[in-house]
Amino acid sequence: MELKVVKASVEKGEGLGWGKSLLVPSIQEILKNDSQSVPERYIQEPKDRPLISQNLFDSLQVPVVDFSMLAQKDANEIRKLDLACKEWGFFQIINHGVREEIMVNMKAAMAAFFELPFQEKSKCAKAANEIQGYGQNFVVSEKQKLDWCDMMFLKTFPHETRNFKFWPLTLPGFKEAVEEYSTEIRKVSNKIDANLSVLMGMDENGLKRKLGEFQQGIRMNYYPTCSRPDLVLGISPHSDGSLFTLLLQDDEINGLQIKHKEVWLDAKPIPNSLVVNIGDAIEILSNGMYKSIEHRAISNEKKPRMSIATFVMPGDEVQIGPLDSMVNEKHLPRSYRNIKYIDYIRQKFAMKMQGKAHTAIVKL
Ligand code: OGA
Ligand code: NI
Repeated sequence: MELKVVKASVEKGEGLGWGKSLLVPSIQEILKNDSQSVPERYIQEPKDRPLISQNLFDSLQVPVVDFSMLAQKDANEIRKLDLACKEWGFFQIINHGVREEIMVNMKAAMAAFFELPFQEKSKCAKAANEIQGYGQNFVVSEKQKLDWCDMMFLKTFPHETRNFKFWPLTLPGFKEAVEEYSTEIRKVSNKIDANLSVLMGMDENGLKRKLGEFQQGIRMNYYPTCSRPDLVLGISPHSDGSLFTLLLQDDEINGLQIKHKEVWLDAKPIPNSLVVNIGDAIEILSNGMYKSIEHRAISNEKKPRMSIATFVMPGDEVQIGPLDSMVNEKHLPRSYRNIKYIDYIRQKFAMKMQGKAHTAIVKL
């Protein structure tokens, strides 16, 4: 039933399943004409601008979880994962089993796409009533400030949700790279899901049983260099609407920042690792024990940065709400109402990215 709904809208080419966004110019193309320009529409209000030189909290590091130890059910590592989810909502995983070659190919495929002439990229452009494809999402007003970023969003699982209209099929190796990467990431996400199930008081298959087959979508972010990174944001503060997200980021260039205890911290890249963050759906299911954390990306003057965010999500028709194992009338009263996932994600896509403002509709 759930698949049919997705498929029906894909087949009709409507894509209205999740939402729409106003069309905006490509910042990468604007800069091809004038690499120094910082158009008005991208200059953030003073209160929203990043403090680029703030390095006071350099010593605080996003926790690192060794996936090979989790596989061995190492009690220490499981505790680390639990603490990371509770206190950070973010962790980096090493020894995750995704071969380096697959990550390198994925990054190369993405880079090759963004290096194509605009006319070629435009063949994969999203329509105004679509959220898949090349362009930008979360733009709901002509007055809204824009992020210093072009993106490409593709649904990848279940297979039926793939809409090849938005894939650059003539770009050699692109389809294969995305297929391989998304398959490998699904294996990692299944293991994360099994661990979270246990930590939330169920057996390893608890989340799968409750939520059915997960959806997966990949957002490729291209952040061009900026002559004034102090005035703009690569991606505005937001939390992800997913269960959780796995981010493959540049091995060297800082860009991702997370809001930890009210302070913006750099999530410094560890080569070949994946950054994982808890999304709104796990916050809701865990009745707030694991919170989705605000994050953003900043731009830089030196080198374009690319990142690949893979969102793991429940099916559209699935009801999400606090798990029975996470509610206790006396000590842990329900803090969230139940909602059908598609209703949640639709209202997220109907707003600009603005911290956690979009989570208000599920809070009790
Ligand atoms: C995202 C995201 C951060 C980054 O795509 O949701 O938060 O560093 N990206 O690109
Ligand atoms: Ni995000």
